[in-house]
Amino acid sequence: MSFIEFQNVSKVYQSGEVQVTAVKDVSFTVEEGELVVIVGASGAGKTTILNMLGGMDAATSGKITMDGETVSSFSKKELMHYRRAAVGFVFQFYNLVQNLTTRENVELASQIVDQPLDSLAFLEQVGLGQRLNNFPAQLSGGEQQRVAIARALAKNPRLLLCDAPTGALDFETGKVF
Ligand SMILES: Nc1ncnc2c1ncn2[C@@H]1O[C@H](COP(=O)(O)OP(=O)(O)OP(=O)(O)O)[C@@H](O)[C@H]1O
Ligand SMILES: [Mg+2]
Repeated sequence: MSFIEFQNVSKVYQSGEVQVTAVKDVSFTVEEGELVVIVGASGAGKTTILNMLGGMDAATSGKITMDGETVSSFSKKELMHYRRAAVGFVFQFYNLVQNLTTRENVELASQIVDQPLDSLAFLEQVGLGQRLNNFPAQLSGGEQQRVAIARALAKNPRLLLCDAPTGALDFETGKVF
């Protein structure tokens, strides 16, 4: 059994009368330690796949497993533990807490896990050692994105999900990540 398995996963959103099939019959496997990149046109369903894998959205049909556990049939409580402990997520639009500083945003995330890594070390690594006490609104888009990357890494997650994580960074900075 692979570390992650998607088996015939579909996601249909119902908005009023209209049904949108965001993901249709997708199957793939990922081994532990493997780096996988999902490429596709805008609207192809990339974010939807990451949201289902990260336990933030439920599949309409099919099966999703991580390390032998069936994420797609987790209860709400199991999903909460899974999101907290197992998953680090870099969102497409950062989702930083606006009234917390750079440093606090990262420390907040590391406080909800048992074995966090050093928040400050990651902030240094992403080049934000001098912006620790700034709020998100005082940072550029790319700097906010780097806070989001440090935040996900500091949780020391088993599964690091990154949704277009370098989209706001210039080519040279993006390559570093
Ligand atoms: N909550 C929702 N309700 C209804 N439709 C949705 C919802 N979320 C996504 N969709 C639709 O599902 C499809 C896939 O969206 P998704 O966000 O997964 O695409 P994406 O590949 O991440 O695109 P992008 O590259 O632009 O980020 C799109 O047609 C989108 O409009
Ligand atoms: Mg997307």
